[in-house]
Amino acid sequence: MSNFLTSNSGPLKGSIKVPGDKSISHRSIMLGSIAEGVTRVSGFLEGGDSLATLNAFRDMGVQIERNGSNVVIHGVGMRGLKEPKKPLNLGNSGTSIRLMSGLLSAQNFDSELCGDESLSTRPMGRVINPLLEMGADIFGDDSRPPLTIKGGSKLSGIEYTLPVASAQIKSCLLLAGLYGEGITTVIENEISRDHTERMLRGFGYDVTSSNNRISLLGGGSLQGCDIEVPSDISSAAFFMVAGCISKDSSITLNSVNINPTRTGVIDILKLMGGNIELFNQKLQAGELIADIKVASSNLKGIQIPENLVPLAIDEFPVLFIAACCAEGETVLTGAKELRVKESDRIQVMADGLTSLGIENHVLEDGIRILGGEFTKQASSIKSHYDHRISMAFAIASVRSKFDIEVEGVDNVKTSFPNFVKLANSIGMSIKQVG
Ligand code: S3P
Repeated sequence: MSNFLTSNSGPLKGSIKVPGDKSISHRSIMLGSIAEGVTRVSGFLEGGDSLATLNAFRDMGVQIERNGSNVVIHGVGMRGLKEPKKPLNLGNSGTSIRLMSGLLSAQNFDSELCGDESLSTRPMGRVINPLLEMGADIFGDDSRPPLTIKGGSKLSGIEYTLPVASAQIKSCLLLAGLYGEGITTVIENEISRDHTERMLRGFGYDVTSSNNRISLLGGGSLQGCDIEVPSDISSAAFFMVAGCISKDSSITLNSVNINPTRTGVIDILKLMGGNIELFNQKLQAGELIADIKVASSNLKGIQIPENLVPLAIDEFPVLFIAACCAEGETVLTGAKELRVKESDRIQVMADGLTSLGIENHVLEDGIRILGGEFTKQASSIKSHYDHRISMAFAIASVRSKFDIEVEGVDNVKTSFPNFVKLANSIGMSIKQVG
């Protein structure tokens, strides 16, 4: 188990490019594998989560060559996946297990999907129930991993209203729907990230989205294509907050994906008074990208609009650090989903903030944080092995006069393998030890 040892630092300066988007990287492997012909991916995230997906498809007989972040997938077509010889281990990755349960429910072979301790506690009823409705044979004890899937089920399209805003459930059902008889329609009351819909269209599959209804007709095929994965806004978010809360700082984050279903973090920081500018906007492989310039800001506390919650769902740990450095109170509600991420991100963040001397009050579906100073020296903060908790507390160090130790940071490599190197390159002071 390794820890971060972080010290007060700044000003932060520089121009950096964070690694490829995790959601897009997963989907490039899944769709590339079941497409006809070759798919070439550049900018693939070399993180534990996306590599777990890549290895799982290799275990199902797909030839995938990887040279760093360049990946070549030799697609096997819709019916070309082979029965894996062992359970597919998806590590810490919720996206892998939920999306793949849709895809594998439609195959002619049996499979078992499992993962690490954290993944084994995460709720899967949200994908199991609609998949059963489609005709799948999928089971998880107490609706948690490991999941066992019996092959050979004939799936039918369904119309399904998402009970929570979730791109993972939506994508799971769309992937199952590719094999289903008739039309699969997912209705979302709140917008969630739409990378699956965009990428399916890039592979030549017709997907319609209108009035929060996303539909596709089963039985088609995908054509291999080239995908340039843009930088992950969820990784860039750590440095957006660092730039805002550090004095005399100015950082540029290059070629970041600014898909409008992901930009809640920018909107929230701007509402708080964040000094953030977007420039060089362009389309790249069906996704919008931009360079983002962030500078020192006088942040103020806000009531976070609930409609922005799904659009910033992975960024709350670091947004809580921004709230600590803002004047006044920040209130988050409507964010119950944070309790079932890689850790209970409301409680785990609240515990860490309290140990740094930040007054906060936990709500069932959110938190109230009173901005102030990090007045206490915590003995060490427990990340609960959650990558985004580890990185969020490392960012807090730019405003803390005490050193901050974060315990259990190995999982940072699931989404952001060069986090420490990039952070130090702009002037932060983080050591990973152990
Ligand atoms: C993801 C969707 C989100 C997000 C996760 C990645 C995806 O999960 O938190 O990190 O790639 O579809 P939910 O669908 O559970 O909101």
